Amino acid sequence: MTIPHPALYAAAERFGTPLYVYDAAELDAALSRVRAAFGEARVFYAMKANPNLTLLGRLRAAGVGFECVSAGELARAEHVGARGEDVLVNGPAKSAQEYAAGARLGATFIVDRAEEPGLLPPRSRALVRVNPALAVSTHDHLATGAAGSKFGVTLDQAPEVLRALREAGHDARGLHVHIGSAIRDAADFSAAFARLAELHPHTGDLEVLDVGGGWGVDADLPGIAREAQAAASVFGARLWVEPGRYLVARAGTLLTRVVGTKQTGRPFVLTDAGMTELLRPMLYGAQHPVTALWGGGEVTRWDVAGPACESGDLLARDVPLPGPTPGDLLAIGEAGAYGASMSSSYLTRSRPAEALWDGTGWTLIRRRETPQDVWAAEVTPA
Ligand SMILES: Cc1ncc(COP(=O)(O)O)c(C=O)c1O
Repeated sequence: MTIPHPALYAAAERFGTPLYVYDAAELDAALSRVRAAFGEARVFYAMKANPNLTLLGRLRAAGVGFECVSAGELARAEHVGARGEDVLVNGPAKSAQEYAAGARLGATFIVDRAEEPGLLPPRSRALVRVNPALAVSTHDHLATGAAGSKFGVTLDQAPEVLRALREAGHDARGLHVHIGSAIRDAADFSAAFARLAELHPHTGDLEVLDVGGGWGVDADLPGIAREAQAAASVFGARLWVEPGRYLVARAGTLLTRVVGTKQTGRPFVLTDAGMTELLRPMLYGAQHPVTALWGGGEVTRWDVAGPACESGDLLARDVPLPGPTPGDLLAIGEAGAYGASMSSSYLTRSRPAEALWDGTGWTLIRRRETPQDVWAAEVTPA
């Protein structure tokens, strides 16, 4: 993150905390790195990582399409002007509403099970998602291409599902694979792409090979791109990619203020953000870099805990910090992906505000919710 510390202080002062801040330059740089590595590949942003309309609009303006997994995400894609070839509809259990919305937009459907050719709207464009049945180097909950994971059809089924799509009058364009998120070992990608390439004798040439996302923020993109391109060439196919985390993670930081400290056998620094703002540490044991935006004092180790009445409400463990005092600001880094998008109103907490730094100033891109926003859909008893 390259936002200067005085600008972070100013944002916390102006918009309050907890606050998500995004660096537009980092978002643009991440997209440039993807394009440099993957060349002509069509880029679909997996908006589950962060669906803020301002960020979507910026990516849309740069020619990026969207991978959507719900009616709500399809509505967001439409809202920022994406249509047709720029929209993918994905998900293991699509609803009638999602099929209809996808058809209205002229989207491409990612077929996830053998029954789907009979469920798609007439004459749909489609890819078949293949589960390569591989153990991958990530948290179990983030692995989507393992044998026994609920996603995709088996390698054996894939040629048959392509045939069934064609027989049902659909435009079966190719294959799709996405083996998980925050994958640490690049060899996992090579293995998955190689398994897909082995299907060529059974499928013949295809128009599209979509290799999903799942790249960690430090991933060797040129290496992954080379392997993906090699697999696509086997089919004579055009390459599509669906990065989520890679595009937005580094651009985003969660700013939180120190509320106080306590010792209960472990030293805790208590912050005004926790699991309701950033769920990933609790859900996946994710480790985010934590930076103290204050100086001075002896550095000791602290667990960073949020305000929720849940003992798992921890943002980080064993973080070296100079003596924290109430009001001090902490920056939780690499929080742009699956941070705000997974935030919740559990405990009737207001989901945080979000602000974008353009190198010279701030724009509020989501106001902080109020308690009234949180209960807006409920009925007050007469
Ligand atoms: C099908 C599909 N594509 C792309 C992504 C994006 O993954 P990541 O954010 O790890 O790049 C996901 C995330 O779960 C996904 O399920």
